[in-house]
Amino acid sequence: MLKAKIKVNVNSVAMPFQVDFKGEKIVPVAEGQSILEASLAAGIPHYHACGGKGQCTTCRVLVQEGEEHLSELTSFEKTIKAVRKFPDNIRLACQAQVTGEGVKVHRLIKDDTDRYIFINSAEENSTEVMGVRRKLALFFIDIRNFTPFIEAHPPFDVIHIMRRIFTLLRNAIEQYGGRIIDTAGDGLYAVFGLESKIKKAAEAAVLAGLKIMEDVKIFNNTYMRPYFNHFFEVGIGVHVGSVIYGNVGIGLNNNLTVMGYPVNIAARLQAATKELNNSFVISERAFSLLKNPPYVTSSANINLKGVSSAFEVRLIGKPFQYMATFSKPEQGPVGNSG
Ligand code: FES
Repeated sequence: MLKAKIKVNVNSVAMPFQVDFKGEKIVPVAEGQSILEASLAAGIPHYHACGGKGQCTTCRVLVQEGEEHLSELTSFEKTIKAVRKFPDNIRLACQAQVTGEGVKVHRLIKDDTDRYIFINSAEENSTEVMGVRRKLALFFIDIRNFTPFIEAHPPFDVIHIMRRIFTLLRNAIEQYGGRIIDTAGDGLYAVFGLESKIKKAAEAAVLAGLKIMEDVKIFNNTYMRPYFNHFFEVGIGVHVGSVIYGNVGIGLNNNLTVMGYPVNIAARLQAATKELNNSFVISERAFSLLKNPPYVTSSANINLKGVSSAFEVRLIGKPFQYMATFSKPEQGPVGNSG
């Protein structure tokens, strides 16, 4: 499924420019030649299922450098970009002509498996599929005092209450522009900043956390205490940092995955809420980004695996009531359990 027929001019008189196909070869490009024509002429097995008509997108490339030395988007590219939500640095090699030096591209579809992943994915979003590094606010939350409830109630009640709480968490996270990445047991992991700069992301993560604390308090007073004679609390950890995110595209949900050391730190901060006996622990780095930091804070230093010096954090939550009520707190936050 490599090709339809396309004419390649291998005898071009002038080859004024070069295009660097990352990891493959640097190829000469003639004036007015498309990236696809140049790559095929150089022997690169460049996919072009529609024959260069701007319809199949199998020729797409990620432009890493020299975007300004490519011709304007053609009408085909504009249409496809609008429909498939391609980011600006994706071009169709059959449409883009090279107008200057310094263009570096990365061919995206190199074999049939690539083709399947990119073309057949149910909900194509190239930004996510390819993977991006950017600064995000990482948010881990764990529901506390849940194990005693599980042990004392039938499965129906447990799942019902779990749904209530997760709905509450999700509403607050989404209200502030966050996105839930994963859930595990009685906790979840979300990120903020996919659509905003890091300062706003840190602010949003903190506001979402404070709202959740308030909403859980209301839920306890209006529902849990009257109907179940029980209450929940939450432990929240927030950190910021540069992470890689992308859509792995495997599995039913085609989930977004976020990876990187800052993720581990955020998970550890959430776990540290227990040892610090404070429901909301945020790294000093994240705290320093806040425009309107919470009034009541104290600081602490904790030891993190892999970090030689003490890690400075701010405590912006409250001491846990359940710790005073139950002598043995339950286990099991998302990520690094504490
Ligand atoms: S070859 Fe089909 S869109 Fe470029």
